[in-house]
Amino acid sequence: MNSIFETIKSVAFDIDHAIKTADLGYSDSENSSGEDQLKLDVQSDIIIEKAFASVSVVKNLVSEEKEGVMELNENGTYTICYDPLDGSSLVDVNLSVGSIFGIYKGELQGSNLVASAYVVYGPRIELVIAEKGKKPLLYRVIAGEFKEVGEVFMDEKGKLNAPGGTQQNWSTTHKTFVDSLFAEGYRLRYSGGMVPDLHQIMLKGGGLFSYPGTTDKPDGKLRQLFEVIPFAFMYEQAGGQAINNKGMRLMELVPSHPHDTSPCFFGSNYEVNALKSAYGIEN
Ligand code: F6P
Repeated sequence: MNSIFETIKSVAFDIDHAIKTADLGYSDSENSSGEDQLKLDVQSDIIIEKAFASVSVVKNLVSEEKEGVMELNENGTYTICYDPLDGSSLVDVNLSVGSIFGIYKGELQGSNLVASAYVVYGPRIELVIAEKGKKPLLYRVIAGEFKEVGEVFMDEKGKLNAPGGTQQNWSTTHKTFVDSLFAEGYRLRYSGGMVPDLHQIMLKGGGLFSYPGTTDKPDGKLRQLFEVIPFAFMYEQAGGQAINNKGMRLMELVPSHPHDTSPCFFGSNYEVNALKSAYGIEN
């Protein structure tokens, strides 16, 4: 597994360099979710694909930017599902973006995720790695190298609220719940980049990030294999919770297609328990 984490560290530098220097236009193609691909998305995808090609423990790669599974090493053990540059349109306005990696052993489903990692490209580069049975570890680039900064853990209750999706298309239950958090004093923190938004909540002790099913997107927007399951693992390892709108742990998701999405809620215990009550889910 170490060779995978070392590769993630090295691609983080290359992608950061591309963000700071590359052409920000669109390519001529769409990704598998029907979104126009930015040149930077494609470039980041190529950086990751090339870097993992020589890592023998990696059997397959599944990219948010491509259809299907790419076989790398027949005798490899792990499949890496990744979003090379999540929130990439935010680069245009100079906000933080990120890369997300889910490392799976066996069938591609939540219960087979063995580790996850994400990189935040902001004023600094930061990396968080989560492995089973351990608190996630935060790394920061200091003097040109990733240095371990410490463990990440969430408090029982936080102060931040990051509600995703178009409010007009939320259910009344969801709107009433989000309003109730603000009425309790929660502060709005939503940049539109899943990686920095979830990172902020984790590092500042807690709160809630939600991306519900909406009238236009009943299954939500965020992709299970590349975004939802890797972050669900992070939040659980950090002492928080991650569930869908039925109260199921997101770690129990079994996607039927690599690009399936799911409504998702990530947070510290107090907020997720409050959400369960609001949604009529038994605690
Ligand atoms: O998946 C892409 C993404 O940009 C996420 O990073 C982010 O959380 C979400 O979409 C934002 O979506 P919306 O603008 O609908 O809230």
